[in-house]
Amino acid sequence: MFTVAVLISGTGSNLRALLEAAADPDYPARVVVVGADRDADGLAHAEDFGIPSFTVPYARFASREEWGDELGAQLDVWKPDLVVLSGLMRLLPAGLVDRWTPRVVNTHPAYLPEFPGAHGVRDALAAGVAQTGASVIIVDSGVDSGPILAQERIPVLPGDDEHALHERIKPVERRLLIDVVRRIATGEVDLAAVSAAHAH
Ligand code: GRF
Repeated sequence: MFTVAVLISGTGSNLRALLEAAADPDYPARVVVVGADRDADGLAHAEDFGIPSFTVPYARFASREEWGDELGAQLDVWKPDLVVLSGLMRLLPAGLVDRWTPRVVNTHPAYLPEFPGAHGVRDALAAGVAQTGASVIIVDSGVDSGPILAQERIPVLPGDDEHALHERIKPVERRLLIDVVRRIATGEVDLAAVSAAHAH
């Protein structure tokens, strides 16, 4: 069975959607562990589904690299086929990216390469654009700069604030993520080939 580790920092609504999809016996992937960089509310979803979890509190480490080493050690215990960042609000240190790419994907609430970084929704609103989007990418050594595996446009509506727009984006992210993980698990998407093509 194709195994997935999901890393979160927040409410984990995207994680829950993936857990619900993976609960279907016909879904070709299983979430085997959930990790967080803090005591994230989303860890409760792992508990609801009886999935093991771990926390590597960023604040306890002297550097991003040391935090990354511990996070990597935890992932090496589970040896997942794929790592999914879904609301992890940390950049992975280069050593960890090098260890896992291209078998690490990230969801982002914007139409990359538009509005990368930690505030994609806020930045789209500030830019006054009529549409933004959701994207699923392979994590590489940059900030939201990896190959795009799936993305979809989402309208910005008059009166949108950051929360309203983000809540409209998240269901699209969840649908894209569930489909991308399915296509990776079945081999329809070859992450190594996509990553190599992007590099040139
Ligand atoms: C998602 O929009 C994700 O793309 C972004 O943070 C949000 C996490 O939401 N990085 P949740 O924790 O899955 O509800």
